[in-house]
Amino acid sequence: MMLADRTALVTGAATGIGRATAIAFAAAGARVAVNHHGQHADAAAVVDLIRAHGGAAMAFEADVTSADALAAMVDAIGKQLGPLDIAVHNAGVIQEKPFLETTEADWDFVVGVDLKGVFLCCRAVLPGMVARGRGCVINIASELGHLGRARYAPYCAAKAGVIGLTRSLAREFAPAIRVNAIAPGPVETRMLSAEFMSPEVLEMERAIPAGRFGRPEEIAATAVFLASDAASFFHGQVLGPNGGAHMG
Ligand SMILES: NC(=O)c1ccc[n+]([C@@H]2O[C@H](COP(=O)([O-])OP(=O)(O)OC[C@H]3O[C@@H](n4cnc5c(N)ncnc54)[C@H](O)[C@@H]3O)[C@@H](O)[C@H]2O)c1
Repeated sequence: MMLADRTALVTGAATGIGRATAIAFAAAGARVAVNHHGQHADAAAVVDLIRAHGGAAMAFEADVTSADALAAMVDAIGKQLGPLDIAVHNAGVIQEKPFLETTEADWDFVVGVDLKGVFLCCRAVLPGMVARGRGCVINIASELGHLGRARYAPYCAAKAGVIGLTRSLAREFAPAIRVNAIAPGPVETRMLSAEFMSPEVLEMERAIPAGRFGRPEEIAATAVFLASDAASFFHGQVLGPNGGAHMG
């Protein structure tokens, strides 16, 4: 029970990596706020699953691009689950498009969720952590923030931005608050499907030393570690469960 008696928020937790992280946090003893944006049934299913295994969780709706919605959510979590000890900013979107066809609206959509959304989440959770003198923030970046990928410029720029934001906040809020990032490699979720990626890109994503896509649970295990006291000397780090896609 590495996270016993802690309250944790996971954004975008109705599906994929966020869902697996919420489940793993609850299994490690945390009370989990399962954030979602209009995915009531999926979020309720995550909460039901956690409760069926004896864990504590509640669903909270909020669009991570809305500062007001995030402030209301953090307030509601404090009242219903307790003040936040851990926040995982995982919600994200992706889009494949040649750069010369990428519009300002495309940029604003992807960067708005993937980078500004993380900024707004940090703005929402950090005041409470500062007031309590402790806390742990984990931002979900991507290996593509290191590598870049043709036809994914806004996504790669946003994820590289998440790494810079993480390191800046780690310096500003240490030692009381630990701020770290996880930059996963390709993971079997809806994001890594034909819905968002052409066959060539999917093939490229699979051509990594591990020879396979990761499972959401493999990223969740990294988040449990970073959120726990076992990671007490980790500040501003970018951990890379990525199957060897990026080394360094
Ligand atoms: N799957 C991969 O290969 C991979 C690799 C590296 C990084 N990531 C990152 O992992 C994170 C989770 O992605 P995933 O792979 O689990 O895909 P996913 O699509 O299952 O999860 C993304 C979640 O974010 C939610 N979301 C989107 N916009 C939102 C908003 N405005 N407010 C609140 N929630 C919102 C979605 O509803 C969804 O539940 C993302 O940040 C993604 O960029 C994924």
